[in-house]
Amino acid sequence: MATLNFLTGNSGKLAEAQTLFGPLGWEIQAFEVDGEVPDVIEPQSDNLTTVALAKIAQAVELLASQNRLEESLLVEDSGLFIDALPEFPGVYSAHVLQSIGCDGILRLLDNQRTAYFLTVAALWTGEAVEVFIGRCDGTISTEIKGEGGFGYDPIFIPDESEDGRTFAEMTHEEKSAYSHRGRALRALFDYLDEDGA
Ligand code: IMP
Repeated sequence: MATLNFLTGNSGKLAEAQTLFGPLGWEIQAFEVDGEVPDVIEPQSDNLTTVALAKIAQAVELLASQNRLEESLLVEDSGLFIDALPEFPGVYSAHVLQSIGCDGILRLLDNQRTAYFLTVAALWTGEAVEVFIGRCDGTISTEIKGEGGFGYDPIFIPDESEDGRTFAEMTHEEKSAYSHRGRALRALFDYLDEDGA
């Protein structure tokens, strides 16, 4: 079984990647240094790709410092974009979730509730960096629903959800079938597969 390191402090992201890649014959392993997920600095930027590229650059330096440069390593950066609130929370998604939470987002919205999630995944292949993007369109629910998932999952209903369920009301498999992260990671897997990795 091939192994892909994933540098993330978010156990939900890790679990989703494991659910997706496991059946495809890949083991997704949390990237740790001395038994801990290393901190990487996220630059101030209005662009998820810039953030993901800054993270992968630091991650590759960490791999090099461990003499593990031949291994592959994944980082990703995601954000929620709400049409009624241009570019918001966007690259500030983590900060906004911490400060006003899902409740705060619901209070800001009226009738226009369309939104999308974006994921930019940056992969160090062992030789070079490749970038994969996934998008998921949907709407912001009128109430918080569901116990699963993480982050904004309890208020995001993907367009593919026929019964109006939020991501937080779905299994990892269901969420990944529609989600921004699922799309970006499937593109990444197709790349690895074609590359014969
Ligand atoms: P990050 O910077 O990529 O870790 O994510 C920014 C913010 O978006 C964090 O608060 C995450 O909890 C949230 N987020 C990222 N991906 C998802 C998702 O798939 N569902 C819900 N919230 C997410």
